[in-house]
Amino acid sequence: MFTKGLVLLGSALPALAVSLEKRQSPTLDACPGYTASNVRNDGSTVTADLALAGTACNVYGDDLKDLKLLVEYQTEQRLHVKIYDQAEDVYQIQESVWPRPSGGNNANPTTSDLAFSWTNNPFTFAITRKANNETLFDSSAAPFVFEDQYLRLRTSLSDSPSLYGLGEHTDPFQLNTTNYTSTLWNRDAYGTPPGTNLYGSHPVYVDHRGENGTHGVLLASSAGMDIKIDDSDGAYLEYNALGGVVDLYFLAGPSPKEVAVQYSALSGTPAMMPYWGFGSHQCKYGYRDVWQVAEVVANYSAAAIPLETMWTDIDYMELRRLFTLDPERYPLELVRQLVDYLHQHQQHYIVMVNSAIWRGDNDVYNDGAELEVWQKRANGSFYEGAVWPGPTVFPDWFHPNTQGYWDGKFAEFFDASTGVDIDGLWNDMNEPANFCPYPCANPDDYSTKSKNPPQPPPVRENADGRQIPGFPAGFQPGGNNTRHSVELQAPSAGLIKRVGKRQASNNSADLAEHLGLPGRDLINPGYTIKNPAGSISNMTMDTSIQNYDGTYHYDTHNFWGSMMSIASRKSMVARRPTRRPLIITRSTFVGLGKYVGKWLGDNVSTWEQYRFSIAGVLNFASIFQIPMVGPDICGFAGNTTETLCARWTTLGAFYPFMRNHAGDTSIDQEYYRWPLTSAAARKIIPVRYRLLDYFYTAFHRQTTTGLPSLNPLFYHYPEDANTFGIEHQFFYGDDILVSPVLEENSTSVSIYLPNATFYDFWTLERVQGSGAYINLTDVGFDTIPLHIRGGAILPLRAESANTTTELRKQDFVLWIAPNSTNQAYGTLYLDDGDSLEQTATSSIIFTYDDGAFSMSGDFGFPSDVSIKNITLLGAKGQQTVEGPVSLRQPFEHCF
Ligand code: GLC
Repeated sequence: MFTKGLVLLGSALPALAVSLEKRQSPTLDACPGYTASNVRNDGSTVTADLALAGTACNVYGDDLKDLKLLVEYQTEQRLHVKIYDQAEDVYQIQESVWPRPSGGNNANPTTSDLAFSWTNNPFTFAITRKANNETLFDSSAAPFVFEDQYLRLRTSLSDSPSLYGLGEHTDPFQLNTTNYTSTLWNRDAYGTPPGTNLYGSHPVYVDHRGENGTHGVLLASSAGMDIKIDDSDGAYLEYNALGGVVDLYFLAGPSPKEVAVQYSALSGTPAMMPYWGFGSHQCKYGYRDVWQVAEVVANYSAAAIPLETMWTDIDYMELRRLFTLDPERYPLELVRQLVDYLHQHQQHYIVMVNSAIWRGDNDVYNDGAELEVWQKRANGSFYEGAVWPGPTVFPDWFHPNTQGYWDGKFAEFFDASTGVDIDGLWNDMNEPANFCPYPCANPDDYSTKSKNPPQPPPVRENADGRQIPGFPAGFQPGGNNTRHSVELQAPSAGLIKRVGKRQASNNSADLAEHLGLPGRDLINPGYTIKNPAGSISNMTMDTSIQNYDGTYHYDTHNFWGSMMSIASRKSMVARRPTRRPLIITRSTFVGLGKYVGKWLGDNVSTWEQYRFSIAGVLNFASIFQIPMVGPDICGFAGNTTETLCARWTTLGAFYPFMRNHAGDTSIDQEYYRWPLTSAAARKIIPVRYRLLDYFYTAFHRQTTTGLPSLNPLFYHYPEDANTFGIEHQFFYGDDILVSPVLEENSTSVSIYLPNATFYDFWTLERVQGSGAYINLTDVGFDTIPLHIRGGAILPLRAESANTTTELRKQDFVLWIAPNSTNQAYGTLYLDDGDSLEQTATSSIIFTYDDGAFSMSGDFGFPSDVSIKNITLLGAKGQQTVEGPVSLRQPFEHCF
């Protein structure tokens, strides 16, 4: 094998990587590990020096000789273990990107739920759960390796582990534990293939051990990495990272929901979204002009299917160039008329903003060039790649001018009175994606080779005489359609102009240390992660690029897109300071939920991806704390079918973010296109809308506590081992069990009902679950099995409406669904739905106990609607008490 490796050395590069790994991996286990000395244990903090315990093994780079250990009992449920280089050169995530949770006020280890123990020679450590002495993490499973470009840490796992998380991926929700690798390296992953790294990186896993408890582990690292799990010979999980330090946070749980709450304290609780954001969204890549967009809006209206928000993809741009409008297809005057029309009809408008800027002679590029905000090569020239518009540059989000530049472009282009008055934003291609393979020598070659489809001629002056009912004159046959272009003004004053050299070591403490070890091979590290794009620089930016603050793309790649979205949120808030922005992005990292939502990227119109989407939303909502999440309903790539799209519509009504989106070469798939999809949308969107406040309440709770707004079954039934692997059923909020039909042409589905009381949402009949599967038949294509969990009180709007603005004017009804002990509980959060800072809110608590119903809590929001009636469900049918009951004060009633 050794000889073969050498022979391969002279040939293709990927083969070299493979052969090196084969040749060298055996020596990893011979690595000497470290010896601990100078251990100081002051109770809540343990520190030690770690020294390489023998001859360096230098498998994928150079072993670091002197390390430090820091252990902090940060809270009673959170323990922090950090192993870093003594010189503090190794890259650590900038505080500005991911603020470290405080270790300043550490907890008392004697009362901590977790315990840290260690051995000195070799240095190994273990984390145990004190309540039952369960070992949660044990690094003695293999020698610890800390090299300049490779870090290996292995923990043994319990037998038959139940693990979740480690995304973004399209693998099973309960992770495969045999020979499984989760690779984290943000990537433009068209088709979202299983077994590969996708757009986001979330190095956190949940280890669920039934009655022995659940814990979570976050490796706070942005390094590219392979996380390997194998149970063929003693179960283990192993981090193989391209750099960074060991920065581990152990979360004690002991329940899965407590892990979620504890993780949210690390990641930050998610941003609250506007009420309208939970409405139904429509998009398609390839809407060839503004008339077509208007037509879709009109068609929705004619089909009597609610449409809350219309989206426009890159089609609106002139030659795909950011902050421009295509003067022929999307003339400013008509885009403004469209937006006015939408606003007058209580609808919303969102457009895409990509991260790459056309490198050519327009103000968008020139202004940025003058401010030097583009990422640079080592020689100081701007780095160029190729994305939709052809040759592009990429903002350096660390540059002090970039935010001002971005704010300025948003302020100009999206100006409410002169530009495109968007209500929300869509960030894309921010991994960052690059069509020009490494090394990108000729980005200009991609002007024509970009994925831009040839466009049909624009429908000028609506020449085919289509009527767009109710639309302004410009949209009518013969309507005025003169050319307009957007005049961009000079960038806002006050920006730092012409910044000279990079200021790597200026006064900020953040910049002084942790910039990344010098002398590394930032393009071809010795260890090769399992990235299907090949080299880590391929199809993205060169990893050798240095950021303004002195760090390298090699280390910061995985959150480049997050920085774009955080900057975009700031720009949106600067534009409309009082309003909650709805921003949906593709590339994510730890903590991004605090700012924006996420869609699951370029999925495919297949049943497999329809099924997978549930695990996708559960990962983001219940583990990664980015709960505003949904996939492209009916599928993005390829062509959907009437039945797939109908089923997907009914499932889509139970994603937090509900958007239908298709690729440019895919057939049109708006809900009104087929009888089954129309019927499904007409039936299910009103159900979503009637439940909107119920979900809004659950979502709001997540933004304040981290308690998930979507729940995998095992979150509610952590001791029921039958639930651990369930990935096609979930709870929307706490109490609506969603169980979609899973197979093509099928009208039946086998669903698991835990041993508890449920009520069929559609008939309101009581169904006693017994911890077994039941078969549901005759499930029409316009519907989806839903069960209310016994013990819930659901606030629903009495009627649905065409828009969420109208919906908010509808009265409520309450459904009381008692559990087996004849009790129930529910909450309702009310606010104005839109303000960033709310001045008056209500948090109402409903309880029911053996006939006695009461409503208490805070009633600060001056609600104009009331509760029309209250229905008590039960084995023997329903009892309804008629209102109105005010939502401004407590209330009691005895059934
Ligand atoms: C990317 C996005 C997709 C979008 C397309 C064109 O592939 O993921 O949603 O339609 O770019 O902008």
